[in-house]
Amino acid sequence: MKKVVVANDQGAVELTASIVEHLKKQGFEVNYLGIGEPVSVDYPDMAKAACEEFKKGGYEFGVLCCGTGIGISICANKIDGIRCALPQNCYAATMCKEHNDANFIAFGGRIDYPQPVLNMLDSYINTDVSMDERHVRRRAKMMALEK
Ligand code: RB5
Repeated sequence: MKKVVVANDQGAVELTASIVEHLKKQGFEVNYLGIGEPVSVDYPDMAKAACEEFKKGGYEFGVLCCGTGIGISICANKIDGIRCALPQNCYAATMCKEHNDANFIAFGGRIDYPQPVLNMLDSYINTDVSMDERHVRRRAKMMALEK
């Protein structure tokens, strides 16, 4: 079964619950490391836990949610090997997979998106990574920035 790791902070409890349910309906095994009720946690800790779990291997991708998606995605992108996208709409959710090979996708529970988050998530899931030479080259340069 395809595995996904998911975490959130108090800014996205309901949104994350809907994402977990949606992923399970699609047949994903969800390792949920977030909080299911609005208790105060620190989003860097949630990002770290999910990214470290992802790096153990066996996961298709990860999902991170906070109030804006910004703090938690910034934290994830500080961890080696993580490419966390924060898409604005379905087009960006598609492109972050096709061009950037994002292995994490982040959303904000307090953001009014122009399209439903679950549609954005599906855009990401249903897109293949481009192996076009220019995208492979750009991704290699992106990851070289970690060094
Ligand atoms: C928590 O209140 C909030 O700061 C967090 O969810 C997120 O929006 C940070 O980027």
